[in-house]
Amino acid sequence: MPDVARAAKSPSSTPALLAVLAGNAVTPPPMWLMRQAGRYLPEYRQVREQAGGFLDLCYTPELAAEVTLQPIRRYGFDAAILFSDILVVPDALGQRVAFVEGEGPRLEPVRSGADLARLDRARTHATFQRVFETVGRARKALAAETALIGFCGAPWTVATYMVAGRGSVDQADARLWAYRDAAGFAALIDLLADTSIDYLDGQVLAGADVLQIFDTWAGALPEPEFERWVVAPTHRIVTELKRRHPLVPIIGFPRGAGSKAARYLEATGVDGLGCDTGVALEEMRALSQRGKAVQGNLDPLLLVAGGEALNVRVRETLHAMRGAPFIFNLGHGIVPETPPDHVAELVALVRAQGA
Ligand code: CP3
Repeated sequence: MPDVARAAKSPSSTPALLAVLAGNAVTPPPMWLMRQAGRYLPEYRQVREQAGGFLDLCYTPELAAEVTLQPIRRYGFDAAILFSDILVVPDALGQRVAFVEGEGPRLEPVRSGADLARLDRARTHATFQRVFETVGRARKALAAETALIGFCGAPWTVATYMVAGRGSVDQADARLWAYRDAAGFAALIDLLADTSIDYLDGQVLAGADVLQIFDTWAGALPEPEFERWVVAPTHRIVTELKRRHPLVPIIGFPRGAGSKAARYLEATGVDGLGCDTGVALEEMRALSQRGKAVQGNLDPLLLVAGGEALNVRVRETLHAMRGAPFIFNLGHGIVPETPPDHVAELVALVRAQGA
């Protein structure tokens, strides 16, 4: 595999993230962090206050584009990720979503065919349009070498919030619906897959260079439900997006998939695998030998702790992944307690590789 050294002598406007997602190793690896825009940044908290509610921020393109760019200005990451949320999809479908301060999302639960019948894919356009405008504004403001990542939640993960009406530790409500009435639950998953295709397609048309599908609760499902509710709908979304936009790479993040991650990587058709904190470095290395990129997987709490523990782990990660198509990231999102200086230290550590 070619190892493209990123020296100043060979400036390129092709984002390093795209080179890695095409299967190449790049040194130092491109990096971005899940939840890189968020409450740990004082400039985010200021805009958030100005916007009012969290969803108001997501639906105000000027402000959402501004917070998308904030971490790029501060740290020079290789990619910006659209500022939005996975729960914009149920909100656009007509299931009212509220973010309660300090408590997380609240939705009127969808538990039956009748609840489902009230959701309408045709009405999502006006809401999605505001997100697409954010994408357009952010892409226009970014340098050519910085990739813009669009995203959605995977149908399974979004369904867990829609069915429970909130975040839950075990996703029991969605799992029970799937066991008791697989055909009814399939109708919800199909609606979410179709709507996610509309949503991602619009993001690409507006300027997203890369897509990520967040399946935060993939680990809650045993086989064969993992196959049915995680792999199959993701494969459908990926296949349709690739038919429409063959050059736009897709990263899948099946958090907690464990030994099923390899199957997910093979069967969904994604170009890159987001690895959570639980994936051992040797395993991440092995997964990268399949001609696909891997991304991950630093513990977000190491970024809170900082110091020697962070240094050691970053060095181990870079060493383990050297020469592989690898994107440096966390194993889950940044937590609000993260000192911004520790993020700057992390960027310096990663960028020092090969220097
Ligand atoms: O910087 C980025 O990564 C882009 C924006 C982004 C957000 N959420 C902003 C956000 C992205 C990609 C997400 C994804 C998301 N949202 C996921 C999947 C990834 C993961 O973290 O597992 C999930 C499960 C959600 C749903 C969600 N959104 C929850 C459960 C919560 C409340 C808990 C929390 O962390 O506050 C949110 C709110 C949210 N989404 C915030 C941000 C910056 C904090 C809201 C605030 O400013 O008050």
